[in-house]
Amino acid sequence: MSEEFELDWLDMREPFDAMARSEALAQALIARLPARPRLLDLGAGTGSLFRWLAPRIGRAQAWTLVDQNREMTEAAFDTIADRAEQVGLKVTFPSRRTLLVHAPGGAWRVEALIADLADAPRNLPLHNMDAVVCSALCDLVSRGWLEGMAAALRLPFYATLNVDGRDRFLPPLPGDALVAQAFRRDQGRDKGFGGPALGPKAVAEMTRAFTERGFSVQAAASDWVLRGHGTGLLSELVFGHAEAALAQDRRHGARIRTWRERRLQQSAMGRLGARIGHKDVLALPPAAR
Ligand SMILES: C[S@@+](CC[C@H](N)C(=O)[O-])C[C@H]1O[C@@H](n2cnc3c(N)ncnc32)[C@H](O)[C@@H]1O
Repeated sequence: MSEEFELDWLDMREPFDAMARSEALAQALIARLPARPRLLDLGAGTGSLFRWLAPRIGRAQAWTLVDQNREMTEAAFDTIADRAEQVGLKVTFPSRRTLLVHAPGGAWRVEALIADLADAPRNLPLHNMDAVVCSALCDLVSRGWLEGMAAALRLPFYATLNVDGRDRFLPPLPGDALVAQAFRRDQGRDKGFGGPALGPKAVAEMTRAFTERGFSVQAAASDWVLRGHGTGLLSELVFGHAEAALAQDRRHGARIRTWRERRLQQSAMGRLGARIGHKDVLALPPAAR
């Protein structure tokens, strides 16, 4: 069974993802791209990575957004068009499946590919690409999936926002360790990529898999730092951690529910903070160094 993601959740996290991604790693990727780069965005969702990276690339470029969920890619097209028009960029649709953002440095071409990434890389058009990119995906995949991808790629692989396990809610509360332990188990559930999800092991596994194949691999922190009022994101995180913990640890259900109530009260009073540890990873193949 593959994992379902809510449009609202992706919408809510987008500004925090945008603040968290490593600028240095993005620039290191961009420095390796050709004049008109073609990027394959795996698990693209509503196009959050495109909206962040395309203006940084700044020149003519072509993106293929891959997702299994057609509703996501439709929302991606709508959101990309809306946001581009909001900043005065013209948008055209040369075909039903292609969107063009007419930016000053050259057009940004966007297409969607509906595909189940469980079958990747064999169902991906890798031969037509200059880089494979993704955001908030590689902690969902299995070790076997990652091995298959690393073995197939001779292109830069750029994976942003992989959880690394350094999560902390503040101030400390009884129940934190219990919830964290059960949440960690949930992160290792099979998320539809042919085996247990890598979860916080994703960065170490990507580093190993690509280094073994001669890639040069860099990682940089891309944590969410959340404090006080500020968003439903803190409350959503509390709900998400508690729900995952309850699914994994029924024996301590009462303690987990108490933790959830206290954390939600703190959030409502603007007294909750959290750091959610992520890392971005850039793997460059030997020829592209
Ligand atoms: C955590 S969301 C990240 C979305 C987007 N990259 C972002 O950063 O906002 C993971 C995305 O991967 C997609 N996904 C999960 N499993 C998939 C699969 N087996 N095949 C294709 N897409 C998948 C989901 O539909 C979702 O859009």
